[in-house]
Amino acid sequence: MDLVKVEHGDKGVAVLTINRQEKLNSLNQQVLEQVKQALIDLKEDPPRVMVVTGAGDKSFVAGADIAAMNEMSPLEAKRFSELSHEAVGLLDRSLVPTIAAVNGFALGGGCELALACDIRIAAENALFGFPEVTLGILPGMGGTQRLPRLVGPGIAKEMIFSGRRIKAEEARTFNLVNRVVPEGEALKAAKELAEEIAANGPVAVRHAKAAVNKAQDVDLVSGLEYEADQFALLFGTEDAREGMGAFVDRRDAEFKGR
Ligand code: COA
Repeated sequence: MDLVKVEHGDKGVAVLTINRQEKLNSLNQQVLEQVKQALIDLKEDPPRVMVVTGAGDKSFVAGADIAAMNEMSPLEAKRFSELSHEAVGLLDRSLVPTIAAVNGFALGGGCELALACDIRIAAENALFGFPEVTLGILPGMGGTQRLPRLVGPGIAKEMIFSGRRIKAEEARTFNLVNRVVPEGEALKAAKELAEEIAANGPVAVRHAKAAVNKAQDVDLVSGLEYEADQFALLFGTEDAREGMGAFVDRRDAEFKGR
């Protein structure tokens, strides 16, 4: 059974769906391996924008598979955490923009998967949380590192220490999600945004993503230097000539991704 589905749309948007609905799309080793493989394949033939979602309207991803984890030795748990870091890391390091369409439960590993995306759009019924400590474990798919970077250490610690679930609207006030949309519309909204991004110069968008990511890692002076280099680099692309030329000629640009 395909635990992960990838669909390529005609506007340069690919949708990766975690497809284990009967277990609320929870992540076991097989799912993580398929996510990893799907992301490796997508690197070979990249879309302009990638959307990540969970099958059905009830759950994005309800976390790591607790029944499977309950059987793991410490070494198996280490391997499982590392596999998740590899899979989620491929998403995080994806050169193209990524959008999580959060259509329900985003708990534990689900929240961590969403955190590895550039943008999160949540349906009103989405619930976010890190229930790991209620199980006697801690977030092992990147949550302790990515959550504080996004929402700050205070909110991250409150969420991770309490294990409390929060609704989409509260998640928005924490900057955990960009936008909240009506129930059942997260994927539609994510695709619309993805198509809007995909219509822009793809090389420019990829380099803009790299430049914004750089801001997380380096001091301002180094970051500005990197920005100037990326800016200059784009002037050697056909897309930049096309984009600026189209403005001057008063016509729509047709970007080729070169
Ligand atoms: N791991 C393994 N199985 C899970 C799961 C998970 N994280 N989340 C849901 N499931 C399974 C349930 O065991 C159930 O399987 P079954 O039908 O074979 O019994 C099925 O998915 C449906 O879940 P259910 O609990 O019946 O749905 P619900 O609507 O009553 O509750 C949740 C939904 C999300 C509140 C509840 O499933 C839950 O708390 N899941 C665990 C969330 C979690 O702690 N995640 C972090 C793990 S580190």
